[in-house]
Amino acid sequence: MKKTSPVSRSGRFAGGPGADVAQFTESISFDQRLWRHDILGSLAHAAMLQKIGVLTRAEHAAIARGLKAIARKIEDGKFQWQPALEDVHMNLEAELTRRVPAGAKLHTGRSRNDQVALDLRLWLRDEIVLLLGEIAGLQRALVTLGAKNSDVLIPGYTHLQRAQPVYFAHHLLAYVEMLERDCERLWDCHSRVNVCPLGSGALAGSTLPLNRVLVAKLLGFVDANGKPQLTQNSMDAVSDRDFAVEFCAAAALLAVHLSRLAEDVILWASAEFNFIKIADAYTTGSSLMPQKKNPDIAELARGKSGRVIGNLVALLTLLKGLPMTYNRDLQEDKERLFDSADTVRATTRLMAAMLRNTKVNHQTCLAAASDPALLATDLADYLVRKGMPFRKAHHVVGAVVALAEKSGSPSHTGAKAGKPLNKLSLAELQSVDKSFGRDARGVFDLKRAMTRRNLTGAPGTKEVAKQLARWRQLLS
Ligand code: ARG
Repeated sequence: MKKTSPVSRSGRFAGGPGADVAQFTESISFDQRLWRHDILGSLAHAAMLQKIGVLTRAEHAAIARGLKAIARKIEDGKFQWQPALEDVHMNLEAELTRRVPAGAKLHTGRSRNDQVALDLRLWLRDEIVLLLGEIAGLQRALVTLGAKNSDVLIPGYTHLQRAQPVYFAHHLLAYVEMLERDCERLWDCHSRVNVCPLGSGALAGSTLPLNRVLVAKLLGFVDANGKPQLTQNSMDAVSDRDFAVEFCAAAALLAVHLSRLAEDVILWASAEFNFIKIADAYTTGSSLMPQKKNPDIAELARGKSGRVIGNLVALLTLLKGLPMTYNRDLQEDKERLFDSADTVRATTRLMAAMLRNTKVNHQTCLAAASDPALLATDLADYLVRKGMPFRKAHHVVGAVVALAEKSGSPSHTGAKAGKPLNKLSLAELQSVDKSFGRDARGVFDLKRAMTRRNLTGAPGTKEVAKQLARWRQLLS
């Protein structure tokens, strides 16, 4: 068996692990992306070690210079990551020690257990901010598309059956609301990510007089009032991944929202609906059928929600049987967390770009929204305004709908074609119930119908304009 010799085994071990063992246990292939945050953590830890007298000024300066030089080398793509050194922490420490003898003092009072917890928190904190930016971008794209088509009406659906008319913008704003809750959840998660675990050691802190508050301040682990946020139990701190679970849960719900939006887009872009047209650059063709234009971005957004939900379940399952404290199982957290973060960020960004390049077919939307059956409930409300109990009004309008279906001139087969609701005469309406008056058919004036829906949150003309203005202001 070919032997390797990682630094963590020095002293206690006779030789390095076999190559297959090293390959099975390494994490450098996926945790190297934590390098920036690992170095930030080391810089803060070194500054603190100098303050408490573990490092001289000269040693501290040399370590800081060394870490910055390594950072430049990584940025330039010239750093040789060594799988034999297992993970990002040991790769960076080994390189530092090679350059700077005092590097051997850097790990004083620190374990990879509190170090990896720190790196993940630092990384996720940045990631959440980036994701929030993308979500705001998608919200803006939705609001802009709604505002650009502010007078477009479409049928609102329940059970995927045409139900009542709504402004297209109202439908889009539903997603803006969902996304806003996602932002709130992510900010809430951020407050628990933003707690410094460094100083917890392997599991039991340190006998050295480390200054945890200083490290927390240097790394920005402070609340809105500038108060340093420190983990309060060393055993919890090294084994806690709740913050990663919370992020993956928030990401999963975001992915579900993106998937629902994607499904609407896919339906709208179909010939059957034909409500929207996505720009060519945001669709793909078929290798066989020359006429095809497929909404692949939306389909992938829908499809990718599966892995984001899966990542959450994988993390929960990973944690559920772990005894205290750190166990190597925890190394399996990273790929799930990274994948959820990467997937929702890219999906959010691409959905926004697609919507910015989408046009609305006003004619098809108007034709679909003009189906007078969508205003059957308005007709019942008309009767309610005349004093009829709603249950009775519902029954009466049901009979009117049935009459309309039976009426109309017979076609060449002899079957009655049915009449649109708004084409029934006053006499026909009154044959069902005497409460109908001359004004009854005015109910079917779509424009007027939309001015009547002005409860907070309703799809009325004024209310939707108000909501669009509110969101424009909030997102500006
Ligand atoms: N690569 C490890 C992880 O991701 C770092 C911590 C290793 N700690 C240890 N005691 N082996 O979890």
